[in-house]
Amino acid sequence: MQKRDVIIIGAGAAGLMCAISAGGRGKSVTVLDHANKVGKKILMSGGGRCNFTNYYTEPTNFLSENEHFCKSALSRFTQWDFIGMVEKHGIPYHEKKLGQLFCDNKAKDIVNMLLDECAAVGSEVRTHCSIEKIQRQDEGFLLTTTQGKWACSKLVIATGGLSIPTMGATGFGYDIAKQYGLETLPTTAGLVPFTLSPNLLEQFEGLSGTSAEAIVSCNGMQFSENILFTHRGLSGPSILQISSYWRPGDSVEINLLPNVDLYEHLKHQQKDRPKAHINTVLAETLTKKLADRLTELWFADHKEKPLAELSNDVLQAIAKQCQSWQLKPTGTEGYRTAEVTLGGVSTNEVSSKTFEAKKVSGLYFIGEVLDVTGHLGGFNFQWAWASGYACGQEL
Ligand code: FDA
Repeated sequence: MQKRDVIIIGAGAAGLMCAISAGGRGKSVTVLDHANKVGKKILMSGGGRCNFTNYYTEPTNFLSENEHFCKSALSRFTQWDFIGMVEKHGIPYHEKKLGQLFCDNKAKDIVNMLLDECAAVGSEVRTHCSIEKIQRQDEGFLLTTTQGKWACSKLVIATGGLSIPTMGATGFGYDIAKQYGLETLPTTAGLVPFTLSPNLLEQFEGLSGTSAEAIVSCNGMQFSENILFTHRGLSGPSILQISSYWRPGDSVEINLLPNVDLYEHLKHQQKDRPKAHINTVLAETLTKKLADRLTELWFADHKEKPLAELSNDVLQAIAKQCQSWQLKPTGTEGYRTAEVTLGGVSTNEVSSKTFEAKKVSGLYFIGEVLDVTGHLGGFNFQWAWASGYACGQEL
């Protein structure tokens, strides 16, 4: 049997950062992961370039039943701390937009950096290791694994959420929480594309790949970025963001022309270009394909008429339809394509300072397995780094 001060289950973003943090304090640490390689989600993230943090990380970028829970860790290991580590390793990076930082080269740079840091503090990382049983002992825990038995004083669960099962995601962390009587909140897919009814899909047929800048709102939140028509429904950053706030049965409101008061604009156009048609005006902001299709779908009665012949009421109706489009998704693409999992181990069960379960001493939960979910844009990794670091300081 092997003995360690700390065993971390899950060699993802949070687990590796925790191993660096605890190892740096002289603890003997082993990270165990069932996958064939470490940090698979890091490797596939950001289109292979890993959006590793965001300049503008704030607690308001996170969803959780307890909105205050994330504050302590985020302030103890900030985006600037992570950027400092990236710079120390000479990894070239750039801001893509909205404070989102990506590697210039490959996401692998980040995984290599984390592994180098682990090696530097003597923290061991093992892959291909499945956990068969966890037993609590007088002092710590005993793990039965496919790589033998391991004893540890502190056990950290960093097994992430349910998104992308083909990448090794499992509900393991939730099962462990339940095994020890800790509350887990219902989980759903977040940062995920919407699916639409066959009827709507037919209406938008051929638009797949078309995007538009839009403000998308639902349940009191709104995001202003692109939406993207897909074969299955709608995606794009605005849609992914709002999906974390959407619940089945909700409609989302889409403003397809976010930068103008469309009614006023149409009134002006009516005066300046009385012979112009509605699709021509819309095509000055939307793509021609989208403008033509929406005109056909929504304003068929008026598509042949010049603006001069449209009443104020009609112009108002056109503006309302384009700027407050009510759309009811049938669902989401689910964990198959979701970037994150909403819900999870309740933050009521865990200390926001140490990440130790209040009811089970020596047992810790960090990263996405907890009920803390970031917006799109590097925030989920920042949560993984921050919670991993903060926990590692307390082990
Ligand atoms: P993570 O999922 O990273 O790691 C969990 C680890 O536990 C894995 O290595 C897994 O193999 C292991 N594990 C699971 N079950 C186990 C078991 N039973 N036994 C042993 N090991 C087990 N975020 C962001 O900020 N910027 C971005 O660019 C992206 N991009 C992105 C793209 C895609 C396609 C996805 C799916 C996700 C993102 N994300 C993201 C989200 C981000 O990847 C995610 O929030 C973090 O990886 C969460 O880190 P954790 O360490 O908590 O879990």
